[in-house]
This record gives sequence, structure tokens and C-alpha cells, in this order.
Amino acid sequence: MIKRALLTAALSLATVLSFGQPKLRPDNIEDIIKAMTDEELASLLVGAKESEFYYFEGTAAGVRSIPRLGIPATISCDGPAGLHFYPFRDNTDKTFYCTAFPVGVLSASSWDLELMETMTGALGNEVHEYGVDMFLGPGMNIHRSPLCGRNFEYFSEDPLLSGKMAAAYVRGIQSNGVTATVKHFAANNQETNRHENDARIGQRALREIYLKNFEIAVKEGRPGAMMASYNKLNGEYAQQSYDLLTTILREEWGYDGVVLTDHGAKDGTVKAAKAGCDLMQPGSEVELERMLEAVKEGAITRDELERNARHVLRYIVSTPRFKGYKFSNDPDLRTHAELARKVAGESIVMLKNDGGTLPLKAGAKLAVYGVGSEDFVAVGIGSGHVVAKHVGNMRESLTDAGFELNQDLAGYYKAYVELDHATKRVAGAMDWLVYESWGYGKKVAEADVPLNMLSRQAAEEDVAIIVISRDAGEGYDRSLVDDFELSVRERELIRLVSDEYHAKGKKVVVILNIGGVIETVSWNNMADAILLPWQPGQEGAYAVADVLAGKVNPSGKLTMTFPIDVLDHPSSANFPTCPQVGEAEQGLRKNVDYTEYAEGIWVGYRHFTTRGIKVSYPFGYGLSYTTFLYSKPIVKASSDGFTASVTVTNTGPVAGKEVIEVYVSAPYGGLEKPSRELKAFGKTRSLAPGESQTLSFTVPAYELASFNEAVSAWETAAGNYQVQFGSSVEDIRAAGSFRIKKPQSWKVNNL
Ligand code: GLC
Repeated sequence: MIKRALLTAALSLATVLSFGQPKLRPDNIEDIIKAMTDEELASLLVGAKESEFYYFEGTAAGVRSIPRLGIPATISCDGPAGLHFYPFRDNTDKTFYCTAFPVGVLSASSWDLELMETMTGALGNEVHEYGVDMFLGPGMNIHRSPLCGRNFEYFSEDPLLSGKMAAAYVRGIQSNGVTATVKHFAANNQETNRHENDARIGQRALREIYLKNFEIAVKEGRPGAMMASYNKLNGEYAQQSYDLLTTILREEWGYDGVVLTDHGAKDGTVKAAKAGCDLMQPGSEVELERMLEAVKEGAITRDELERNARHVLRYIVSTPRFKGYKFSNDPDLRTHAELARKVAGESIVMLKNDGGTLPLKAGAKLAVYGVGSEDFVAVGIGSGHVVAKHVGNMRESLTDAGFELNQDLAGYYKAYVELDHATKRVAGAMDWLVYESWGYGKKVAEADVPLNMLSRQAAEEDVAIIVISRDAGEGYDRSLVDDFELSVRERELIRLVSDEYHAKGKKVVVILNIGGVIETVSWNNMADAILLPWQPGQEGAYAVADVLAGKVNPSGKLTMTFPIDVLDHPSSANFPTCPQVGEAEQGLRKNVDYTEYAEGIWVGYRHFTTRGIKVSYPFGYGLSYTTFLYSKPIVKASSDGFTASVTVTNTGPVAGKEVIEVYVSAPYGGLEKPSRELKAFGKTRSLAPGESQTLSFTVPAYELASFNEAVSAWETAAGNYQVQFGSSVEDIRAAGSFRIKKPQSWKVNNL
């Protein structure tokens, strides 16, 4: 208490004496640093949400002001699928809704970097117009296991796709003059015990899988902020790791932005600051006192304080708030909603479409089953949730699209969801707005199948639509039962509906409104068509209707493998919600206190394709309403890596877009390598039937390198490289090769 009073007195005295002091400008940061007292430097490194930002509820944080030196307070707010704050504020009837865009795993399924950048260009506009300086997104940890609770926020199992998508995301956000924050750096691949879990990862897997996507995001996105993850990495908290935050991030990768903690107040504040973590968030008095104590005791040097403060001040002078931007509090939500619908439509993955079930005939009579058809999940749970003004559902969107819905069934699910929400409102652990602003209260269980109506519906309706939905989110990982696997009721629903409708020669379509991969092999034979919109944002149900109606030809591709069995993923041997949980060794619980990434680089398709293990739906897979032919490619070695081009022709009946996935198989010898790895990708524009487009790719030798931990270096071997152009990792349409004459290597530091 005394220290706080002394600090307050010191800061207010400083304010009084502030006349004649330099005022912060972009070009006088060094003068400002020199003019700052040690206490002021320390106060800049421990965040706070100052009273002017009272209305940013929930997950916002900020940097303290130092009026004496013209340093304003600034504010950060969550993402990544939209701004996370309450829509209501004191003393005004105005509302402050935000757009719930498609979640990361869906927008990445577009495989369209331009589209991603366009989407986050709009999202960044909302950040700017609502007066936020730093946006806490993208979340981009690798999908190591289908069971990670936050996979919905993240992009992929593949580091190249994840890194390129994150870089595009960052460019879009920052094109508005606000700061994007790449998170959670690094290896935050489970939610169980996320604050303390020690991710134990070999150097090669760390470099090739878990750091590689962040490396790409930093080098190609130039984010203004990086958020260190809560977890430990090889025994050291990420936020306290000098090797991670300074040696690798800054010295190797050239990162020059600000580094902040994830939201908490871990012990070791000073160790984090010394390691290169510039800003404690959200910031607390106890951390400030620790920092001041350290300054007094000389446990942190003036140079270290100044180094970190320099990064924070450079961030501050970049902010709209420092520049005095008069934000409107009135972003164009309608235009953003239309864009959210377009992005979702371009990203939805069609997993099955037997016998031309889709697109549906105009005006078709539909029976729509599943609680999720009414309680459609737009975004997952936690800090990544977004309070949209309205989340469209399938009843509304299919009606809007001109289909004729069975009203008994619509009424049944509408009443069920209304009662379910009313019950939760009463039972809700906190007030409904807070409860809902974290995404709680969405559908958690399937209703009974309305058996009494089923047979008549199958006779009267043309097609059955079944919506299977899941929430998922921050703070907990997914379970096998009733989550990765269908629940008994969901299985019953699909079986009964498909029996009834198939007996009458009618079709069944399943919509997977989910946040993470689920089991599909045990039931997908009962569906004639399957669409995967993941959690597609507030307009997602309308995008699903656009695809069902054929207004949009699906062009999304999987960014994560759908295995036959979750135990087919080698990571399942070391994941907290898989069967192997919790043996205590020396008091430490396996997969809770520490997680061995024993699978190494064998993540996702790298494992399945190399070892020839059958999967349900492979990485990069997705169907279209049309077909494409790939030409013989041109592949050439270049002075640094290779170049390639391939021409794609639409050989089907309707216009469509094709994603070209470029995989490379390295020469045998030396390190054991995956049979093929994604090294480039592109997406055509919409090609009319018969129309062609040539896509070209350039891949530098460094991006072909594997990491040799024996010598702590990236190595690109000499030899013959095979290049495969695929419509999925297992559907190779064209191939070529090139030769690298001289091996190359790039030495780095071990972590
Ligand atoms: C949360 C999340 C992080 C979020 C932050 C602020 O715990 O891990 O993604 O940005 O805290 O809410």
C-alpha cells in the first residue's frame, strides 16, 4: 500500500513538474526514454486498463498513461473472429455490436490469402472505428490434436498454411493502422492446465512444426505485437524464455514489435521482463510492485527497462489513440456482415455429395433436424467469442433461400431452444450478458428425435437436413464421448432419419457446425451429402444455405485431417483427454503438468500420408459442384529453390474455384522426412466451364529445408525433388521434379 501511495505521489508530482518536459512524438522516443524515471519506465511495462476505458468489458487491457511526457493510455481487445466486448454501455441507448466473422479454422479452409486479408481488413476497420489500438488476434497454434479446445480459433495442422494465413490476417488488420497480436507464442496446443503445462518438444519438431508457422507470420506479416503463451516450453515459461523471445524471435527472425504476456499475473514478472517480454497484461499492482522492487534492488538494469520501454513506446506512437484519431463508434456492420457471409461461403468444405444430392432444387421441401439447426453455433467459447447482434440459424436461412420448411419440425426445435435458453438464463452462473459474451449457453445436447412425425415427414418432404453442432473453447479440451464421437441421440437421429428417408427414396444431408474435427466413419455412409461450415460466424447459416441452393459452389479444403479414429493420431498417446491420462511421475501428471510431444514432426498428414494410414477425410480435401483438370506442370530449379506453374481447366457444368496444393518430396538420405510436405498453394478465380487459369509458384531453398538438430541447422540437401500438384494431399493431379545441385544450410540456436 505504501509503495503504491509513493508511486502515485511520485507520478502526480512528476505531472506537476511536467511543464517544459518533452512530449512523446514518433521522432523523440530516445529523448523521452532519457527523461523517464526508473519508476516511470517500470510503470510502462506493467499494463493497466485505465478508467477512460471502463466500457471495454470482459477481456480488454492496456498500457498506462504518463501524462507528464504526453504518453496516452492505450487499449487492447480480444479477437480473433471479431471484437470481444459487450454491446451495451452506461448512459447511452446506443449499442456497440461487433461482427462475428468466420472462425480461424473456417477462414483458413478458403486457402485464399487475398480473401483472408480482405476479411481482416474489414475486421481491422471495426477495431479502428471502435477505438481499439491493439487487437488480440490471430490465434495460430498448430492443430496437434483434434481434441484441443481452441482449434476453432486456429488455422491448421500444417505450419506453412497456418503461417501464411496468419501473415495475411495480420496484414489485413494492420492495414487499418491498428496493431495485430500473433498468439500464443509458442506451443499452446492444449487447454488442459494451459497456465502451467510444460510442452516438451524436440528441437526438430519445435522448429519445423511449432515455431515454423510463427516464423512465417512474423517475417511475412510483420505483426506489431506477439503474445507469449501461458505454458512452459521445455521447462521454461514461454513468457520468461530469453531464448524464445529474444534470441529466436528478435535476433533470428528480426521481430521488432512489442511482446506481451497472455492475461494473468504469473510470478517471475522481472524474469519475463529481462527475457524480453515487454508488457505484462492485463497488468496488476502486484506485478508493478515486483518491478519497482527490482528496480530499487538493481535486479533489472536501466538498459533492460529502456529496451522494453522502447518497444512499448514504438507501439504507442503507432496507435490511433496517440494520433488522436476520432473514431466513429459506427463501423459499417452491414457491409461487414455481407463480407462475413461471402468468406464463409468461400470456405465451407463439401465432404460428400453422392448422386448429385446437392445443390438442392429451388423451392425444395425440407425437413430440418437437430437442435443446432435452431441454436446454430457461430463462434466458439471464451475470449474468442463475439457478441453479434444476431446469429442467423438454418430455419431462417433456408426459409430466406426460398425452401419450404416443415413447420412442425421447425416449431419443435424453436420451442426446445427457447426453453433451453430460458432455463440457462435462470441457472446461468453469471448475468446472461456476461454468460453469453463468453459463448456459454449454446447447444450442449441433442433433443429427442421427434419420432411421431418422422415417417410422415419422410413421405411429405423432399430432403432431410440434419445439423450436428458443437461448441468448444478456451480453458478446456474436448472429450471423446459426446464430443469427438457423436452422442447416442445424434447417432440415433442420423440413423432413424436416413432409414426413413432412404426407404422412401429421399436424400439426407448432414451439416457439421463444429469447432473441431469429429469422428465421421461410423455414420457418414448414412448421409448422401455432408457440408462442413465449422463455426462460420453470424452469417454462416446463410452461407450454408447459399451452398445448399447452389448460389455458391463450395471451394473450401480441409486444413486438418479427419482421422478414422482419434487414436490414429500419434499425438493421442500424449494428450490429456485421450485414454492415456494422468500417471503421476515424481508427482507430475503426464499430459497435465507436462506433455511429451513424442510424435515429433509426425503431425497430421505428415504421419498419415507417409505411413499410408487410411483416414476419413485427408488434409486438403474438399469437393466442388464442378470438376477440374490439371495440365502437365512446368517445374524448374531456380538459383534459389524452384519455380513451378500449372494450368487448371474447369471441365464441369458450373463455374467454380480450385485450390492447388503444391507438395514436395525431398530426396532420400539423411534425415527421415515426410513423404510429402506442403510448400505452396494457390486458388484460382472463379472459372467458367471450359475456362482455364495458370498458377505459378516460387519456393526458396530455405523453405525446403529440414531441421537437423544434431548441428542445430536448417539443411536443404542436394538431389532430386519431386513436386506434386494436388487437390488434396492424397489426390495428386500432376507432378514434376527438379534438382538441387549444391546443399545449403542455415545455422540457428537450440532452444
Ligand atoms: C486469454 C487467452 C488469450 C486472450 C487473453 C485476453 O486467457 O488465452 O487468447 O487474448 O486471455 O482475454
